[in-house]
Amino acid sequence: MTDIAPPKTYRVKSFGCQMNVYDGERMGELLEAQGIALAPEGEEADLVVLNTCHIREKATEKVYSDIGRLVKAGRQSGRQPMIAVAGCVAQAEGEEIMARSPAVGMVVGPQAFHRLPDMVARAARGERSTDTDMPENNAKFAALPARRKVNPTAFLTVQEGCDKFCTYCVVPYTRGAEISRPFNDLVAEAQRLVDAGAREITLLGQNVNAWSGTNAAGHAAGLDGLIRAIARLPDLQRIRYTTSHPNDITDALIAAHGEVDQLMPYLHLPVQSGSDRVLKAMNRSHTAEGYLRLLERFRAVRPDIALSGDFIVGFPGETEAEFAETLALVDAVGYAAAFSFKYSPRPGTPAASMDGQVPREVMEERLARLQSALNRDQLAFNQASVGRTCDVLVERRGKLPGQWLGKSPWLQSVFFEADEPQGAAIGDMVRVELAEAGPNSLRAVRIAA
Ligand code: 5AD
Ligand code: SF4
Repeated sequence: MTDIAPPKTYRVKSFGCQMNVYDGERMGELLEAQGIALAPEGEEADLVVLNTCHIREKATEKVYSDIGRLVKAGRQSGRQPMIAVAGCVAQAEGEEIMARSPAVGMVVGPQAFHRLPDMVARAARGERSTDTDMPENNAKFAALPARRKVNPTAFLTVQEGCDKFCTYCVVPYTRGAEISRPFNDLVAEAQRLVDAGAREITLLGQNVNAWSGTNAAGHAAGLDGLIRAIARLPDLQRIRYTTSHPNDITDALIAAHGEVDQLMPYLHLPVQSGSDRVLKAMNRSHTAEGYLRLLERFRAVRPDIALSGDFIVGFPGETEAEFAETLALVDAVGYAAAFSFKYSPRPGTPAASMDGQVPREVMEERLARLQSALNRDQLAFNQASVGRTCDVLVERRGKLPGQWLGKSPWLQSVFFEADEPQGAAIGDMVRVELAEAGPNSLRAVRIAA
């Protein structure tokens, strides 16, 4: 490789979960601190960071097709961008990517992204590099520059990694062991986010409710304690958190839902299957009944709580009767939202070599049935919201003139009209009455606050 001009512009393309979105934003800030600017919309960037996801096969394949696309575009324009592969595929398949794709200048794992600026400088000297170290101390967060401006809704990663080892999942291998960021750092970062314009903060973690730390008074604190501390920041109006594991739900976290006004009535609690046999084979260490009882306890303190979950269909050995148990669980819960996937065997995970891999057509048929049940419930939840008054945190303008978009407390997308000059502004909390429900959004009417 010969010397290439140091990049002047960059673009980060993040795939996968919200933690990747958070990491992608942080990488952008690190690059900007080096004088590399975000490429203007529609223009090719000198440096493209592919911030990848390894959770399912489809997500992983995207990195190779994206590299191919970038190389082809570079050939046509006569300008090859510098390519960095970051994120979970980088962690899992870094060496393979380097060997397979000479156009890739650097590979950086999710725990090492703070070294990206150095790696870019090396790539400009013609040196390719790989860094997939997993330091235990979250070194990457220490290197972050302050954020200058943020959207009204911001993510804050509080915990990373996973010790649960569900048998289908790559996360413990790509993101490493569970690590909690320190309480004081998080409260300080939350304060900076609010100073920069955030009105809602979503606390992120692969197992966010396993977060633990020592609070300002020197006492052990769980996620509920962190939520209560952040709720005291003036001007922070909403707090959310995701993703939780049923086994780490504490009484104190449930209680916080009944007591902390800023904590929104929404819970994303993946269950994966309604069959105890499948749950056991998944190493989930909870039963369907145990999960339902947990939800009841949340509903007891916060009757309007919107529930969301994740599901996998076609886990190895899943029978039609076991799948029917998943449908029965869905009926029992009445989810407001959900994410459902076909099982995807991941290299190195125990489930990938289990007997009874389910044929693709069977998985597709089960997924279709599950999704139609989930869509039915989502629409029903939205329809049941019609007539409610609530606040909407305005996130952006809608497609039509005078139209604004935001979220309800239950994380529904809501649009309303606010004609100029009264108007509305991004970051406003606007009082509305929910007037009409669709499957994915609601129309609302602004009312006097
Ligand atoms: N195949 C399909 N879905 C998966 N998930 C995690 N691993 C796999 C896999 N191997 C799903 C789970 C998890 C969500 C983030 O992705 O439902 O909760
Ligand atoms: Fe994908 Fe998991 Fe990595 Fe998030 S942590 S990007 S879901 S593999």
